[in-house]
Amino acid sequence: MKRATAAVARPAGKRPTPAINDLWYKNAVIYCLSVGTFMDANGDGIGDFAGLMRRLDYLHGLGITAIWLMPFQSSPGRDDGYDISDYYGVNPAHGTLGDFVEFTHAAKQRGIRVIIDLVVNHTSDQHHWFQEARRDPKSRYRDWYVWSDKKPASANTGMVFPGVQKSTWSYDKEARAWYFHRFYDFQPDLNTSNPNVQAEILKIMGFWIQLGVSGFRMDAVPFVIATKGPRVRKPVEQYEMLRSLRAFLQWRVGDSIILAEANVLPETDMEYFGKDGDRMHMMFNFQVNQNLFYALASSDSRPLARALKATMDRPETAQWGLFLRNHDELDLGRLSEEQRREVFKCFGPEQSMQLYERGIRRRLAPMLSGDRRLIELAYSLMFTLPGTPVLRYGDEIGMGDDLDLPERNCARTPMQWSTEPHGGFTKADKPVVPVISEGPYGYPHVNAAEQRREPNSLSTGPSASFACARRSPRSAGATSRCCRCAIPRSS
Ligand code: GLC
Ligand code: CA
Repeated sequence: MKRATAAVARPAGKRPTPAINDLWYKNAVIYCLSVGTFMDANGDGIGDFAGLMRRLDYLHGLGITAIWLMPFQSSPGRDDGYDISDYYGVNPAHGTLGDFVEFTHAAKQRGIRVIIDLVVNHTSDQHHWFQEARRDPKSRYRDWYVWSDKKPASANTGMVFPGVQKSTWSYDKEARAWYFHRFYDFQPDLNTSNPNVQAEILKIMGFWIQLGVSGFRMDAVPFVIATKGPRVRKPVEQYEMLRSLRAFLQWRVGDSIILAEANVLPETDMEYFGKDGDRMHMMFNFQVNQNLFYALASSDSRPLARALKATMDRPETAQWGLFLRNHDELDLGRLSEEQRREVFKCFGPEQSMQLYERGIRRRLAPMLSGDRRLIELAYSLMFTLPGTPVLRYGDEIGMGDDLDLPERNCARTPMQWSTEPHGGFTKADKPVVPVISEGPYGYPHVNAAEQRREPNSLSTGPSASFACARRSPRSAGATSRCCRCAIPRSS
């Protein structure tokens, strides 16, 4: 594949007038949340779409313009929904398809767009495709997965969750064969090179687009497009796949987007964006994320400046997603050993705070010792550096983590709404995940209701970047409401 050439690189300050000036995702403020831990309306302890709908005015009040929903489809829930067992429905615990459409409609009425996770690198092992594939070698689904008769030599390499995940190939007794799983063993990889699988992925996208979403946060993109198989030693990315995903999406609904999760080196960014801007609309800027935390830990901003420079060039229609924390660990894998040590020392000194030999599993506020000035500094960076800010639910009020919960679950506790039992998240006796109730981050101290009433709280104070949606007059449907600070937005 030919690499992007300097022809697409624009010298800073010499940007041409954009041909399309209402690319909504360039001026968005994205808020990600998990339906199951946001708000429970029917009192069964699990968050649902009815509950989320009741909180849309809160989100609107924050100034966010797009919601990214983590997986809410049917799932055995062994990887917080990233193990999907049916792509074409809503997990009954969260509501019905009808509730989903009511929700996207209600969001639209408030000018809020919805993007959803697209998890197609793998399915749950409970998905009927895998069940049929393992049962019968002649099944039409057999080739939808990646098999080997013998244990491949690479079986003990390439684990994404080192320390927890033992291998990338497991033996399935029923299939009498080994199957490939880049992630946990209950997440068999789809054979994404198979045209039938590719067609199914488009069908999944078409389905949700029809129900009102504005696009997808695409999970694990480098693995989706990689070659897979027992003889594959060094996977090769098939970037052209990205073009066909985009072409399909753009044909069905012109202004829908894909935001790629691809923690790759800056040299390959242009392969993901496409040199003519014909692949992914957006990518998370992992390079800036890691160096930003290094800068906060070391007071040395030079590597951050270098990361910004290295990720500056992109096609006119492409955009970065800028984030501080997300639902996974803070992955520091791209820093040098020494830099990583420094960030660990500052923000995650204890073993229990670290994960997968490369990251920190804490939430933002406790990492920054709850220091309001530091938190505001981090937020002002996220809101001013080039890219679209992507916030994590609960971080707007400075929620904490529960390190007693395993792996990344510690930073996935329910939203803290008020001082009512379980922080107002549920009326049930037992929430799906315990709400943080003790200590300085417990819901009696940290909750949305009190912060909304208090004029100088983290989420309402003069420096609350959340209130500043910075909707530029160029963006479609701009309401030019609410802009307390005059920070210019780079798009
Ligand atoms: C992505 C998600 C992560 C999930 C994994 C497997 O990295 O962000 O939460 O566990 O993919 O789907
Ligand atoms: Ca519920």
